[in-house]
Amino acid sequence: MTFHSMWAELLPIGRSSASGGYRRFAWTGADADCRAWFRTQAESRGLRYELDRNGNQWAWLGDPAEGDAVVTGSHLDSVPDGGAFDGPLGVVSSFAALDELRARQAEFTRPLAIVNFGDEEGARFGLACVGSRLAAGQLTVEQAHRLTDGDGITLPQAMERAGHDPDTIGPDPERLARIGAFVELHVEQGRALDLSGDQVGIASAIWPHGRWRFDFRGEANHAGTTRLVDRRDPMLSYAETVLAARREAQLAGAVATFGKISVEPNGVNAIPSLVRGWLDSRAADQATLDTVVTGVEKAAREYAEAQGVELDVVRESFTPVVEFEHALRDELARILGKDGESAAGLTVPVLGTGAGHDAGILSGTVPTAMLFVRNPTGVSHSPAEYAAEDDCVAGVTALADVLEGLACR
Ligand code: GLV
Ligand code: MN
Ligand code: MN
Repeated sequence: MTFHSMWAELLPIGRSSASGGYRRFAWTGADADCRAWFRTQAESRGLRYELDRNGNQWAWLGDPAEGDAVVTGSHLDSVPDGGAFDGPLGVVSSFAALDELRARQAEFTRPLAIVNFGDEEGARFGLACVGSRLAAGQLTVEQAHRLTDGDGITLPQAMERAGHDPDTIGPDPERLARIGAFVELHVEQGRALDLSGDQVGIASAIWPHGRWRFDFRGEANHAGTTRLVDRRDPMLSYAETVLAARREAQLAGAVATFGKISVEPNGVNAIPSLVRGWLDSRAADQATLDTVVTGVEKAAREYAEAQGVELDVVRESFTPVVEFEHALRDELARILGKDGESAAGLTVPVLGTGAGHDAGILSGTVPTAMLFVRNPTGVSHSPAEYAAEDDCVAGVTALADVLEGLACR
């Protein structure tokens, strides 16, 4: 099956006809269809298919028990109304790269696996990279049990309804110990490659990032009869906090976003009793991120107090800075670089990113690297996310070269 036909098969799954974006949320019907697609791809290539305890799918060539395996892959779930490329490009490219290596008659000296990590985006339960975090022991079973979606369904309930046993989730050190290198290919979520004129780049680092929930509690009352001076309106403190987040991020050279909000009672003619907003903030280093979040929280407390509103701030997740392993990164650069074009012999751009990835979660346990494929607009987490087909094909060739360099004689 070609890259093109695999891509075409995945395209309709979980796409909203209203927005044109994807709604492939963990443990839903669309997620099940993506998983079925992965399994078919694995089995049709004679790969050994495995679903691990944490809901991650694996397709093995060779015997994992030999250890020192080379693993590639990404995720198939999406953010609300996400694009087609974030995640699926890495999975489809992995199968296509394996086909390319077989066409090259490459002889594998290390076991190879393709992985689809479950629930990377955290769109449904609020926490990103649940599958890889559970496996790596970065999310405890107790914490996972407390994850709840917007309809009050817990993660274990959702797993159970999807036919997955939630009682077996938890750290999976034996599985991770078999991996000698993990390489994730991903669409770039910025325009660095477009600006440098390159089709493919290598990741250097992932910015530290986290999600904070701000609960502003005021008093519900009539929108028509309550005098302005008598109101305790949490929407006002929330709105001022959104502006503060923008200001703090700008001052620090970081990013901060309130992209999700829930309001109670959510009536047009009622002053809200509760406004709950989620802050996503990221910066190049920890100290800068701390400055931004502390600044936003301080401003929020002042605004809340001025409005007679109560405020609780809860950090829901945090991922420290990830510096990808230099030895593996340099190995990728050596494999992909053209001879002698720079002092270091590197012609493939090496880029940092503000986006989170399963590769970042695994990097604490396993030597990990990433390849980025050019995104001409830089747009991501949107239906407008895009990569040109010849860039995707260049990504497949680069991934095949990397896998051949690492796993073949
Ligand atoms: C995942 O894509 C994230 O960066 O939030
Ligand atoms: Mn994403
Ligand atoms: Mn992704």
